[in-house]
Amino acid sequence: MKQMLGSMVIGAAAVLLVAACGCVMGPTPDVPDDMDPADEPTGARLAAIILQEDPFQQWGEFPERQGSLPSVLPHGPMSRVFINGRVESALADFEGRLPDGSIIVKQNVGTDPQVTEAALTVMWKVAGFDPANNDWFWANMSLEGRIASEGRIPSCAGCHGGARRNDFVFVHTFR
Ligand code: HEC
Repeated sequence: MKQMLGSMVIGAAAVLLVAACGCVMGPTPDVPDDMDPADEPTGARLAAIILQEDPFQQWGEFPERQGSLPSVLPHGPMSRVFINGRVESALADFEGRLPDGSIIVKQNVGTDPQVTEAALTVMWKVAGFDPANNDWFWANMSLEGRIASEGRIPSCAGCHGGARRNDFVFVHTFR
């Protein structure tokens, strides 16, 4: 009897664990119909790009937002915004949307219990990924590339949707 009770407790713990993981990780995003599953972007791929292949610390910044500045929740309390070459090339020639391959990294600096986002919040433009939200792939990750959330994140796209006419970007007005 004692043994049975023990395995029941372990069983219940396992069920709870699975439920908790499912909740944290959320559903896996579906691949859009017109996208080859092999091209589906991932947070791991994005982390490899910005941390190894083309380190974001060497990128430029928006002309009017240079260095660490006070930021708003859920970002902050201070942050610095880096833009890759694709974004930079669109500064003088903006067609309403940033080009495919554009990446914007917001490095959140300092701590505040109210800040919910991880060290790096990233927007990555991937053609065909999410047409309803200008094809932005969103990611929330640590400086070491540990992914907290990725993909079509409703909170990111929802709040940044306030800047929909500026391709979901707040800190720089393209035109
Ligand atoms: C409640 C609103 C809100 C949510 C949720 C939010 N952001 Fe932001 N984000 C902002 C605001 C406002 C700014 C610009 C002000 C600042 O410097 O903090 C910003 C700036 C950024 C920038 C710099 C480019 C820009 O748009 O100005 C990136 C990159 C970014 N956020 C990524 C993310 C990601 C990824 C998520 C989800 C994990 C997210 N954000 C969630 C409001 C939000």
